[in-house]
Amino acid sequence: MKQQLAYIETFGCQMNERDSEIMAQLLAGAGYQPAAGIDDADLVLLNTCSIRAKAEQKVYSLLGRLQRNKRRKPDLIVTVAGCVAQQEGAKLSERQPLVDIVIGTQNIYRLPELVARVKDRLGPQVAVELANDFAIPRYRGEHGAAGSAPKKRPVFKKFVTIMQGCNNFCTYCVVPHTRGRETSREPEDILGEISSLVEQGIREVTLLGQNVNSYGLTFPATAPHGRVRFPDLLRMVAAVEGLQRIRFTTSHPKDLSDELMGCFAEIDKLCPHFHLPVQAGSDRVLARMNRKYTVGEYLAKVEKLRLLRPDIALTTDLIVGFPGETEEDFEATMALLEAVRYHGAFSFKYSDRPLARSTGFADKVSEQEKSRRLTVLQARQNEITRERNREYEGSVVEVMVEGRSSRSGTGQMSGRTGSNHTVNFEARGLQPGSLVKVNIEEGLMNSLRGVLV
Ligand code: SAH
Ligand code: SF4
Ligand code: F3S
Repeated sequence: MKQQLAYIETFGCQMNERDSEIMAQLLAGAGYQPAAGIDDADLVLLNTCSIRAKAEQKVYSLLGRLQRNKRRKPDLIVTVAGCVAQQEGAKLSERQPLVDIVIGTQNIYRLPELVARVKDRLGPQVAVELANDFAIPRYRGEHGAAGSAPKKRPVFKKFVTIMQGCNNFCTYCVVPHTRGRETSREPEDILGEISSLVEQGIREVTLLGQNVNSYGLTFPATAPHGRVRFPDLLRMVAAVEGLQRIRFTTSHPKDLSDELMGCFAEIDKLCPHFHLPVQAGSDRVLARMNRKYTVGEYLAKVEKLRLLRPDIALTTDLIVGFPGETEEDFEATMALLEAVRYHGAFSFKYSDRPLARSTGFADKVSEQEKSRRLTVLQARQNEITRERNREYEGSVVEVMVEGRSSRSGTGQMSGRTGSNHTVNFEARGLQPGSLVKVNIEEGLMNSLRGVLV
């Protein structure tokens, strides 16, 4: 039989990237090899994101383009996974007849079974149940994966999902609806996965969840691990021999405890970078977003983190033009930028999402005004980011080598600091994953440049 080829396109967050890896493994088990490009594939899987309207739109335009492929190759299996699949369910295959499989966020392990059913000509397959008591399946090891072309660089860092779902219901957000209720993986399962990754040469892990700070809160008190919380998990992961760096994302400020902050002083392997989404700088807007903290409380935590770990780099997410956001509210967000001076920020125009509560709020900000605020905010944050990057000039930082620099110019290699900055430097033949010291000579907008010590 002719070799079958699969192509996976991943949108959205690291959760989706990790889920795509798992689905690639499952497809390999079902006999699929990675396709070089989307046009060569016998199976195309779109792992989708619904966080803003624009993200969702990308999926529909890609599906539009796939019409032609399907006409050319009627047996092409088109699969939509991820948050748009979860949100739309059966509607997706009804409105887009080329879609053969709609697979929700809790159902990814059913992929081989659904593919087999499509091959048996049983018609479109939809699996989008969201269970309130969902448990993430146990780790099954790493196998050859289909769907993603072999990585150009050797792998030395990995994402490890420690929890799934979200119970916070920020009023603008689709995630609690697309990822379901919060559930944490048992610590032994996570540690087993990390140990096996380290044996395969992984040096750095990023622990993933929508809100890792609430890890373990849903464990039954009577379970052997019933009292394990995120700081405990961090200490357990740090004890894995051979692992050199630990990162995590994302955190909700309301659940950032003193104990977790203390981990930054206590655990050497924990990288000095903290992504702490604030969303807005006005208490009135934060309350309408259902964020459950005030700007004052947030700033107190920032101050404490910096006392505990003076070299910590803080980054954030911001939304402009949330319904009802006045000019004064926006100015408060601008003032917050000055107060914190983030090392970097992701900022977005507010976007109505299906099922999100704020979609029903009456006082929407115009598209034009949202664009203006975003431009003003990004221009100022870019200046701050550049100033922050310049602060590294003249200092020696530890860099984990990633590989050849993507920037042109011969002999350049790049790596990443604990603070999560990309560093380019002259070097040859260094092994990805190794740690080197670099003297920073220049802080640029998106990276640092230095020389090996
Ligand atoms: N779980 C994470 C991040 C979730 S999504 C957290 O709680 O921080 C990533 C970012 O997208 C959010 O932090 C927010 O800034 C942005 N976002 C989410 N919903 C949005 C919407 N409806 N419109 C614009 N931005 C949104
Ligand atoms: Fe969305 Fe809020 Fe949950 Fe983050 S914490 S995923 S922003 S609902
Ligand atoms: Fe997008 Fe879903 Fe992640 S909406 S950001 S892919 S959780």
